[in-house]
Amino acid sequence: MLWVKSLHIVFIASWFAGLFYLPRIFVNLAMVQPDSAAERQRLLLMAHKLMRFTHILMVPALGLGLWLWLGYGIGLGPGNGWMHAKLLVVALTLGYHHACWRLLRRFVAGQNQRGHVWYRWFNEVPVVLMVIAVCLVVVKPF
Ligand code: HEM
Repeated sequence: MLWVKSLHIVFIASWFAGLFYLPRIFVNLAMVQPDSAAERQRLLLMAHKLMRFTHILMVPALGLGLWLWLGYGIGLGPGNGWMHAKLLVVALTLGYHHACWRLLRRFVAGQNQRGHVWYRWFNEVPVVLMVIAVCLVVVKPF
């Protein structure tokens, strides 16, 4: 079980690395001058590669978590409010991941409507989600 939990933490950290850095690229893309096509292409290529990695890393991160929960029964059954709250955070994180994918498609189509300040705030969301998820699973407050 400890090997599964160790790998769960490693892949969670890797998945979130992508979710932390993608919006950073969006901040830069939102600041690119209209006449800087080369820079725009470079940033789009980086975002594409990172988005692909983030998709791939999400699968073992969640799969190992499900193995701990449904396989080893940790957090299963009544009296595990922390696990239910954590799953809500996971659902919000999946929503954020999907939003990143849609925003990247908008940038590719040249249809981005948002400014760099909006993306700087958007970039803070996964930080808050990770803090809540880690505190829920380590402290188990309810
Ligand atoms: C489908 C999604 C997930 C499921 C089902 C899941 C389930 C679990 C379970 C059952 C444990 C073992 C808890 C224990 O031994 O006390 C665990 C550990 C852990 N999970 Fe998840 N998890 C998921 C997603 C996440 C996410 C999104 C994060 C962080 C952002 C996360 C962070 C952690 C950490 C840090 C631990 C180690 C806690 C400890 O050793 O005390 N997990 N997870």
